[in-house]
Amino acid sequence: MLLKGKELADKIVNKLQNEDTPPLNLAVFHPVGDGAAESYLKMKEKWLKKINASLRVYPVSSSTPLIKFYEQLDDVNNDPSVHGIMVELPLPIEVNYWNLHTKINPAKDVDGITFHNQGEFFATITEKIVPCTSVASIRLLEHYDIPLVGKHALVIGRSNIVGLPLFKLFLNRNATPTIAHRHTHDLKTLVSNSDVIAIAAGKKGLIKSSDVKDGATVIDIGINVGEDGNIHGDFDISSETEKERINYSPVPGGVGVVTNAVMLENLQKCYKIQSGQYQNRF
Ligand SMILES: NC(=O)c1ccc[n+]([C@@H]2O[C@H](COP(=O)([O-])OP(=O)(O)OC[C@H]3O[C@@H](n4cnc5c(N)ncnc54)[C@H](OP(=O)(O)O)[C@@H]3O)[C@@H](O)[C@H]2O)c1
Repeated sequence: MLLKGKELADKIVNKLQNEDTPPLNLAVFHPVGDGAAESYLKMKEKWLKKINASLRVYPVSSSTPLIKFYEQLDDVNNDPSVHGIMVELPLPIEVNYWNLHTKINPAKDVDGITFHNQGEFFATITEKIVPCTSVASIRLLEHYDIPLVGKHALVIGRSNIVGLPLFKLFLNRNATPTIAHRHTHDLKTLVSNSDVIAIAAGKKGLIKSSDVKDGATVIDIGINVGEDGNIHGDFDISSETEKERINYSPVPGGVGVVTNAVMLENLQKCYKIQSGQYQNRF
């Protein structure tokens, strides 16, 4: 079965459109001249319009003084008309890792990268502001009723914004997750023993469908620009017949589209936190 993201993304957006929320503003610190970031920015603008929200762009170039970046961050942190903040990484200036993760107002941290939000997420079972792509991956599995309780879930990649939070989301749902990275031995055996495999390595064709067991589900998170100029995931389907044997999400058209919808959801959650309307629930 093909796990396409559009139906779920539309459902999320539809629910947000029916919420009684004023027009929201998202501030994005944007690395000037980065081709991938340019397309992410256009994408954000397109999706924000769906809920009548706006984008405020703060360009960051290699000549932007660090002090200016921090001043602008301070401004948006304290500006009540800004409801969410995202920093597109990597920036062309060297922002201290600790500062980046502590200086964003946690109530406006749309991508859940602050230590405050990460700490709350990892130390509890609440899922308040969690990195968008990891949430999108789990929501896609739930949308297609893929069983998770007691299942062996393999997450390939351990970044703070994708693999690691996804590991915790699996754990919260009583799956038995394993996390793999570049030092993992015998990835192939781990893959072949797993019921659910989420691949977030950014390595085109890292996992082949022939290595996946019958009935298993693959969530392909990778985004790679191939030599053909097209976008590819980390997962390769070796033949048409494999499509009947396993479930998998396509790239493009799978997790990516849901990630955009979850970004809107997190922005709205931020607004609710700021206005005292957010109710924690699992
Ligand atoms: N669809 C979306 O909305 C969306 C959003 C965000 C990211 N992405 C994509 O998801 C991918 C991962 O993003 P990221 O930000 O997490 O990347 P990242 O920070 O570069 O992390 C990549 C992870 O993959 C692991 N890895 C790399 N090669 C591996 C290999 N051969 N075997 C096993 N593990 C390997 C790395 O291991 P080490 O830790 O040992 O280095 C690292 O933990 C990228 O392609 C990115 O473009 C998609």
